Amino acid sequence: MSARLRPDSRRRTPLSPRHWVPEALFDFWAGGLHPLWTLRRPRARLVAREAASADAVTLILKPNRHFRGMAAGQHVNLGVEVDGRRLTRSYSPTRLADGTLAITVKAIDGGRVSQHLASGAPLGEVFELGQAFGGMTLPPQADQRLLLLAAGSGITPMRALLRQLDAAGMPAQVDLLYWARQREALCFVDELDAMAARHPRLRVHYLPTRDAQAPAPRVDAYAFDALGDLPSARVLVCGPGGFVDTARARLQSQVAALQVEAFSPPVLPDAETGLVQVELRRSGRTLALPRGTSLLQALEAEGLRPASGCRMGICNTCVCGKASGVTRHTLTGEYAAEPATQVKLCVNSASTDLILEL
Ligand SMILES: Cc1cc2nc3c(=O)[nH]c(=O)nc-3n(C[C@H](O)[C@H](O)[C@H](O)COP(=O)(O)OP(=O)(O)OC[C@H]3O[C@@H](n4cnc5c(N)ncnc54)[C@H](O)[C@@H]3O)c2cc1C
Ligand code: FES
Repeated sequence: MSARLRPDSRRRTPLSPRHWVPEALFDFWAGGLHPLWTLRRPRARLVAREAASADAVTLILKPNRHFRGMAAGQHVNLGVEVDGRRLTRSYSPTRLADGTLAITVKAIDGGRVSQHLASGAPLGEVFELGQAFGGMTLPPQADQRLLLLAAGSGITPMRALLRQLDAAGMPAQVDLLYWARQREALCFVDELDAMAARHPRLRVHYLPTRDAQAPAPRVDAYAFDALGDLPSARVLVCGPGGFVDTARARLQSQVAALQVEAFSPPVLPDAETGLVQVELRRSGRTLALPRGTSLLQALEAEGLRPASGCRMGICNTCVCGKASGVTRHTLTGEYAAEPATQVKLCVNSASTDLILEL
């Protein structure tokens, strides 16, 4: 059979631009006509913004047709241009019924992307959007007791999970423990209260730790036993690194399963010091980089721009080959010495001289 008549070749569309135009060129010209037109890349347009709390806003994003969708509890990377520089950060959307994504962003003091999203970005701005990632989704066993622990912006994936449980009629006993500094910083209060009123199996505990009248106990002092039935519970934890670490230390041995995701890195008290030589084999450069700093940060400080996304070890965007040398995990402190392996640049620092496939 001639190649021209092969069945699969008949299914192709030989005039499709993806077969003859370089992607970047297509996106450049198509983007000039309409910013959401791309060959393959997901992008999203900012269509609405409203206050979600004293220091957070909810943005509604309309993705283009290349976004493949997401499960509740997953995250996406947003590529945003701030002061002429493309920066990427992760956010945890709730997918709304019309296919738009609601992301709630806490405006961090001095935060480049969160401040831009909270107030700088005009309606109509278009962002690069990554495909969804992350495994903090609901367990297959729908009726398993759940304990959801959130601090600050860690509430965002929990809200998406609770909406999924709400739609399914709340098949499990669920406690949401939601820490914030002040009451005014709590998001989604009306929505969560309404859900709890609909479902007696859902209990929502607001925990403002700096409340003037009744400051709530922090996670290190919280009386989890009073919630009941801990040994059968699956616990999902999301928030800043220190919060997540403390929750894990307190609950890991007492519950059926525990899953955590940190939105900001904890600081390892005994980070290593000094410089090591890091050879970047593909670019033919050798740099003196500090130990105790993530390879991603250290390379960025040298003016390099390795691909990155969540900066927390979750999305795999920054994975690169390591030919030799010892790295240290910046979240756990564990060392990895095996050669010819892969390393996530955002959550590993160089402990000895290294050779990277960069
Ligand atoms: C998987 C994942 C999902 C996330 N989902 C959300 C979300 O739904 N909503 C949301 O608001 N944020 C979320 N984040 C955090 C978000 O990605 C950014 O880190 C945050 O918006 C700050 O970015 P920035 O550019 O404003 O701050 P940067 O300019 O990067 O940092 C400024 C300063 O703020 C500190 N900082 C950075 N992030 C945080 C943080 N989260 N809390 C406290 N201090 C911080 C930095 O250490 C630095 O000192 C998520 C993070 C991850 C890893
Ligand atoms: S940037 Fe997401 S894993 Fe490193």
